[in-house]
Amino acid sequence: MWGCGALLGARTRSRLWREVLVAWGRRWSAAAPYSASAEPSRVRALVYGHHGDPAKVVELKDLELAAVGGSDVHVRMLAAPINPSDINMIQGNYGLLPKLPAVGGNEGVGQVVAVGSSVTGVKPGDWVIPANAGLGTWRTEAVFSEEALIGVPSDIPLQSAATLSVNPCTAYRMLMDFEQLQPGDSVIQNASNSGVGQAVIQIAAALGLRTVNVVRDRPDIQKLTDRLKSLGAEHVLTEEELRKHEMKNFFKDMPQPRLALNCVGGKSSTELLRHLAPGGTMVTYGGMAKQPVIASVSQLIFKDLKLRGFWLSQWKKDHSPASLSMAKPGLSGFPGVQRQLLPLGVAHGLSCRCSHV
Ligand SMILES: NC(=O)c1ccc[n+]([C@@H]2O[C@H](COP(=O)([O-])OP(=O)(O)OC[C@H]3O[C@@H](n4cnc5c(N)ncnc54)[C@H](OP(=O)(O)O)[C@@H]3O)[C@@H](O)[C@H]2O)c1
Repeated sequence: MWGCGALLGARTRSRLWREVLVAWGRRWSAAAPYSASAEPSRVRALVYGHHGDPAKVVELKDLELAAVGGSDVHVRMLAAPINPSDINMIQGNYGLLPKLPAVGGNEGVGQVVAVGSSVTGVKPGDWVIPANAGLGTWRTEAVFSEEALIGVPSDIPLQSAATLSVNPCTAYRMLMDFEQLQPGDSVIQNASNSGVGQAVIQIAAALGLRTVNVVRDRPDIQKLTDRLKSLGAEHVLTEEELRKHEMKNFFKDMPQPRLALNCVGGKSSTELLRHLAPGGTMVTYGGMAKQPVIASVSQLIFKDLKLRGFWLSQWKKDHSPASLSMAKPGLSGFPGVQRQLLPLGVAHGLSCRCSHV
């Protein structure tokens, strides 16, 4: 098991343990040479045969490793997280469902053990992450097609590599795609201590954006506030503080946000809307409270607020590899952004993801 990394720095210990599923890889630092005649070996995998409560339907099984074909890559998994979408997928209430039986897990990092004769993009020893959701990362080893994988640098922290492809990319796209923000502009978000929320904080700080971060109250709120601030959060407020009358003066000292990122729904999202600048956009990407988003008529008529949604899987379907690069026009307002992102270990992931999808 590995510990908290830079990108996930503010996770609680209990959440960390919940997230970390697989970390077998450290035993296998050296990659085995490719051999077409290798005996099929057995691998361990967390498999579900039908949808339902993950605790009931997911089983640890031995699977046979497929033979490595010409365009295939044999990968030994090093680490894989458990994300909310993994759970939703097993429950059967996610927008994308694999054919059953399926191996759980959509994210993770593995090391290439061997490659087929026509594979050119990766070699034994390289680190790879899934190109898309649905790969089934909760297993010790697998044979994947080369196009299902993206090579990533192996000199970044293991846990950052294992969690690059979902939350940081979601955070980055939401910050770039909905409002043309400039350094000094502000962004408001709820569930700011979530994986996505922490990525938003770090990327926004690197972009020179000011963040108002809303979290649920808890006994150790100061500890959480300190941790989020250490990641780059400018303000950390509880849901209750956000509703207080004094919030009227809050945006005298900083610009009203033009972008709100909603992971929760219900009252929490209504509060975000209340603080958005006229014409601003609220992007909903999660519904942790399982409550609908409610906007008042006056917010729509007199403030002309825009309600949008974001889903990374759909975004990837809609964007060809050629259309993306870190030099997207949206970055032009942020001089030196690549240099600033590097210490976060984010630029590696973003550039890999953006150049591939
Ligand atoms: N649309 C996309 O492309 C996309 C991409 C990535 C993730 N997501 C979604 O984003 C959400 C967060 O994912 P994650 O991996 O960042 O999650 P995570 O790290 O597990 O964090 C979950 C967050 O939700 C909060 N939360 C849980 N139950 C809540 C409730 N009833 N009311 C208010 N807040 C609640 C938690 O706050 P506490 O600490 O107070 O419990 C925590 O901040 C999930 O819904 C996930 O599916 C969407």
